[in-house]
Amino acid sequence: DWTSESFIEDQIAAIRQTVGEGKVLCAVSGGVDSSVMAALLIQAIGERAVCVFVDHGLLRKGEAEQVVETFGGHFHANLKAFEEKERFFGALAGVTDPERKRKIIGENFVRVFEDHANELRDCDFLAQGTLYPDVIESGSPTAAKIKTHHNVGGLPDWMRMKLIEPLRWLFKDEVRNVGRLLGLPEEMVEREPFPGPGLGVRILGEVTRERVRMVQEADWIFRSELRSRGLHKGIWQSYAALLDVRSVGVMGDERTYEQPIVLRAVQSEDAMTARAVNIPFDALEVIASRIVNEVDGVNRVFYDLTSKPPATIELE
Ligand code: XMP
Repeated sequence: DWTSESFIEDQIAAIRQTVGEGKVLCAVSGGVDSSVMAALLIQAIGERAVCVFVDHGLLRKGEAEQVVETFGGHFHANLKAFEEKERFFGALAGVTDPERKRKIIGENFVRVFEDHANELRDCDFLAQGTLYPDVIESGSPTAAKIKTHHNVGGLPDWMRMKLIEPLRWLFKDEVRNVGRLLGLPEEMVEREPFPGPGLGVRILGEVTRERVRMVQEADWIFRSELRSRGLHKGIWQSYAALLDVRSVGVMGDERTYEQPIVLRAVQSEDAMTARAVNIPFDALEVIASRIVNEVDGVNRVFYDLTSKPPATIELE
């Protein structure tokens, strides 16, 4: 009968059988599915699993480093980590429209792959982190769509390789279990859903390095306080975002005119509906005070109480 152990054994055999002496291109984002998929491929075919990580500078604090450390360091994977912050911040300069930001991030993601085509085009397969619910949703088990379609703007022709989908029989909790058995760090296995355009859609208005820093620091404070108080359990997503307005405050003897952080934490089953989490007021008060004191450029903190619908989980 089915266990995570037997799944791993069977999949490793199946991957070796399918791939033969070939190479597999495996894009890792730092999210649960792509991380588990990469770990499985590395276990099955070692350095013929070509793991690609694009650091667009829009992940949470420490997450890009953790991807490099886990795959490049711990697993000794064939990891190609492309540091592309310059490209993304350059392309996003001056852009404030949410849909344009999404489009720019998706397109530049594809461009990174195009620019590195010479190193990548000899891959025979493209690994894709499709899960069982995606298979069901797409109607037929043979018709699984390119899941990343939300996030990328059309793949270059040379990337239309044969697809392999080693997680297509798993539900999310099974994926997490498999990840644990494969030795992925717990933070990675438990990671919340995170939008492909990353912090780009959590920074209202222009995305700059400075504003990314503000969101990363506020987000880090918020989530470490939740964790250290045991309040993170049962939360579907929690994050800090930056609004595109300024308001007046006072710090020491000085008047400030700076930007506000919004904190959002929701419970949900499937992201279709969501409710704000009832975080104790004293915790919120400590978090707000830490953020204003520790994050330069922030002078006010809000907590978002809105349900989905009518709001969405993300702010853009
Ligand atoms: P909303 O904001 O529509 O989000 O309530 C529902 C879920 O989808 C995630 N999300 C995205 N995921 N690319 C993604 O891969 C995106 O552009 C994107 N936008 C939203 C969001 O985090 C939530 O889990």
